[in-house]
Amino acid sequence: MPKFLIAPSLLSANFAKLGAEAEAVLAAGADLLHLDVMDNHYVPNLTVGPLVCKALREFGITAPIDVHLMVKPVDALIVEFAKAGATYISIHPEASEHVDRSLELIKQNGCKAGIVLNPATGLDCLTYILDKVDFILVMSVNPGFGGQNFLPSALQKIRDLSYLLQQRNANVRIAVDGGIKIDNIGEVAAAGATTFIAGSAIFNQPDYAKVITEMRTELNRIKHG
Ligand code: DX5
Ligand code: ZN
Repeated sequence: MPKFLIAPSLLSANFAKLGAEAEAVLAAGADLLHLDVMDNHYVPNLTVGPLVCKALREFGITAPIDVHLMVKPVDALIVEFAKAGATYISIHPEASEHVDRSLELIKQNGCKAGIVLNPATGLDCLTYILDKVDFILVMSVNPGFGGQNFLPSALQKIRDLSYLLQQRNANVRIAVDGGIKIDNIGEVAAAGATTFIAGSAIFNQPDYAKVITEMRTELNRIKHG
């Protein structure tokens, strides 16, 4: 797997032509697709259910789909999204009554499991579940909406998390979600993140390939020191 992954968030895509948008952004160089699932309960917005994930698969999308569940309760939807073709499923600890069980459920259903840390959530919730997660998603905005500004406190959290993972010798990717743009992606990578979710920065521009290429140029600066 490449060191750095770029995951466009479909939240900022044109939902009236979602299949074409997904194809276009993959053709433009994206590594995977990020699908934000919001329930108007855990977060104050409402998006899509498993049938949209299934529709993307039926449309012919074969790239990994990263399903970010911002729903409470969460367990039944884990199973439904796994059936609908999700590759990765991430959950918020605040949205599950039994986080360890929810992570197990993701794995039992054949997906890679992620835990999402809200801006005010500390790293302590990871202590006893690190062996159950494939990736940790650091929110750099409060979840619910695209197009918000990057919260700088996420940088120190990513550095602390990176240190913790090294200490624990854990092979876990750090993803970051919210306010990622060409002009901050390098700094976020330098802090230790390797997967970058970006919605408005990509979909609000006419040329997706241009944005993704410029993001990779910024990332390459980091890779080569
Ligand atoms: C916010 C979502 C993000 C969102 C990011 O709750 O989890 O994935 O789409 O959008 P931008 O990149 O516009 O901040
Ligand atoms: Zn997201």
